[in-house]
Parts: sequence; structure tokens; C-alpha cells
Amino acid sequence: MHMNDLIRKKRDGNKLTEEEILAFVQGYTEGSIPDYQASALAMAIYFRGMDAKETAALTMAMANSGDRLTMPEMGVRADKHSTGGVGDKTTLIVAPIVAACGVKVPKMSGRGLGHTGGTTDKLSAIPGFRTDLSMKEIESIVQTCGLCIAGSSKELAPADKKLYALRDVTATVDSIPLIAASIMSKKFAAGAQNLVLDVKTGSGAFMKRSADAKSLAKAMVDIGTHEGLRVTALITNMDAPLGYAIGNTLEVIEAVQTLQGIGPEDLTQLCLHLAAQMLYLAGKGTQDECMEMAQHALYSGLALERLIWMVSAQGGDSSVITDTTLFRKSRCFRTVKARSDGFIRRIDAEKCGLAAMRLGAGRTTKDDEIDPAAGIVLDVKPGSEIHSGDRIATLFAERDDVFDGAVELLADAFEVSDVEPKPIPLIIDRISNVK
Ligand code: URA
Repeated sequence: MHMNDLIRKKRDGNKLTEEEILAFVQGYTEGSIPDYQASALAMAIYFRGMDAKETAALTMAMANSGDRLTMPEMGVRADKHSTGGVGDKTTLIVAPIVAACGVKVPKMSGRGLGHTGGTTDKLSAIPGFRTDLSMKEIESIVQTCGLCIAGSSKELAPADKKLYALRDVTATVDSIPLIAASIMSKKFAAGAQNLVLDVKTGSGAFMKRSADAKSLAKAMVDIGTHEGLRVTALITNMDAPLGYAIGNTLEVIEAVQTLQGIGPEDLTQLCLHLAAQMLYLAGKGTQDECMEMAQHALYSGLALERLIWMVSAQGGDSSVITDTTLFRKSRCFRTVKARSDGFIRRIDAEKCGLAAMRLGAGRTTKDDEIDPAAGIVLDVKPGSEIHSGDRIATLFAERDDVFDGAVELLADAFEVSDVEPKPIPLIIDRISNVK
């Protein structure tokens, strides 16, 4: 195979064969294909796209580029993946619910980058909690607790890591086939069996427009269909932050409150739907029965018990879960007050995420240190009625000097109107290869 011919073929709008795609992925991973040719191909794909067969071939070539977990001893298991959002602590709630219903959840999660948070950063806010686990440790924790949330290993889908880093600096990230193959390759490598995708759309999401989120969801479900994986995608709203808390410790506390049955309505409902879809894919009953099981696990406290077991099994201090007042607090805070009367029309999730990042809750570069206690707690949701002078948010940080830019950015995230806005549905669509 000559890489030059392959680039030309895609540039001219032709389809690549499975063999050509495999040769490219193998050559790029081992270093015989240079970055400049891989960038040219990524750009050709960006403009010309890939059909379902090509996308599936790219996915599997990347999935097979490193270790593949099979977990034959584990039995029925389910996984979830969120395309990323602001205040998205769903994994901390959904995984314990599903485990409490008897379906195993071995979950590989990522770190946050930019304005979106990452599950491993949230869990790292728990003193002692370890996410760097060996496969043996993951298997044994799943066998005893029913769930385990670990950081993704460097050995899983190394081709995706290399290609993603290249796409990041060559303006080729936002291509639907490349995103779909990237996400799904990691799921196949991690041994997914029943997969629920939370594809977010809105200002705080990767896919700002719901039509793009649907195309991405469809591309990922099609890959599943092609490769015999049961996949359901929920397209969900990420125009406003999920729940009220943004920032690692603050989000763990809100996740615990949700598992105590006193969480925010939007977060609770989304988690119940995601969990019910995972149980449904795992064959636990009809969609209605699975929803009832998820509700029972949540409101009985059984799911919270699972989270506590998992935290202890992964080396964490579970006393902060049983009593969240024990978490270390930020030293400084500021409030944002409403400047007029009216209704909250919009809370721009991306601005909230960027403000939280400035406070130290997220990373600007991949080596930045996170302050677990930093973040934002909102007092309102879109649709809330407010009066001038009401507190609408509180910002937390370790140092006073980080507040200036962050307070302005956050204040700018709120849009107020005289008329009560129509509620926006949280779950916009469901796309699945399982009836
Ligand atoms: N997330 C991924 O894992 N890969 C992409 O390409 C984009 C988002």
C-alpha cells in the first residue's frame, strides 16, 4: 500500500477498503507512516466522510491496535459513555444503580479536558481513591462490588490515542466518522457488551446542534450493528449544566445526594433513564420493568451502598460518602446576584464550564493540577423565577485572585427574560439497534 495513493483515493471521494484502513492504522501506530501523511488522510476524511463500513473498519483497526479485554468470567455486563458535558456526574450514580440491579459495570473513564469534566477527576476528589488499576484488580473489584470505575489504560486502543492527538492539532477533531470510530474503538477494546451512549447536544456539548448529535449517535449505533454489539444512544440536552454542582468534590456530593433520593430532578431523571436502558440491553426485562428496577435501586439506598463498597474497594475513604461534610472545603467564595427581575431563560453550560475551569476545577493543558474543592453551585435552573439581588450562584476557590474573570464569565452565562420560557426536554431522542 502506498499512503500517497490512499490519501488521493479519499481526497477524490472514493471509499477505502478494510485492508487499506487496517494498513493505515497499523502503519501509523508503529511509526512507519509519518504524521504529515496521517494528517492529510484525516483531512481528506474530514471533507469526504466515511460510510458505515469504512467507519466500522477504522473502529476495529484501532480497537485491535493494543490490548483487548474480554472478561469471560464476568458474566452479563453493561457500559455507558457520555460524549461530555458540564456538571455531568451521571456515571457516579448510574453505575451503582445498574450494579445494584445485578448487572456488572466494569467502567473505564477519562479525565476532563477543557470546559467538560471527567469522571476520574471527580473520583480523585475522594481521599485515597485509586483509578490506576490493573486488569486483575478491576476484575476482582467488579466480582465483589458489581462495579469498578478505573482510568483507561495506555494499552487500550493506542492507535486512537496517537490519531486523536494528531487530530487535536490539525483541526480534524469534529468529523463524525472520526469521532464515532474514536469513541467506539475504546469501548470495543475495553470489552463492551451492552453499551448505552449519552450523546449530548447544546452549548456545553461537543455537538452544539441536535442534528449533528443525532448523526453521531447513528454512526456509533451503526458501528455496533456492524460488529454485533448491542447499543442504545440517548440524545440529551446539555444547553444548561446538569444538576446544580460543577467541580469535582461538589459533583461527588451532588451524586451522593442523588443516590440518597434528594438530588436535582434533571440529574435524577437522566440517571434513571440511562440505568434503565443499560438494564434493558442486558436483558433484565421490558423498558418499563427496567425503569422500575432502577427506581427501586435508587430510592431503597441499595445503589448508594454499592458506591460506598466501590469507594472502599478502590482505596478511597468512604467516610466522606457517608458524611459529605467531611470533604475538604475551598477557602474562598463569591456569589453572583441577579441584576433584574424575571425568569432564567438560559444558563450557558459552556460559560459555566469555562468559569469553573478558571477557579481550578478543570485543566487548560493536560498536565495542569486540579483543585478538587473548586467549582460552582448554581441556585437556579432555566425557568426559575428570580428577583433583582437574589443569589443565583456561588463560586468556590482556594485563592481570591482567580475570582475576577470567573465571576464575570459566570454572570454572563445567565439570560433573563420577562416571560417564562418553555421547558426544553432533557431526553431528545433514542436511537438503538435493539427494539
Ligand atoms: N471523544 C473521543 O473519545 N474521541 C473523539 O474523537 C472525540 C471525543
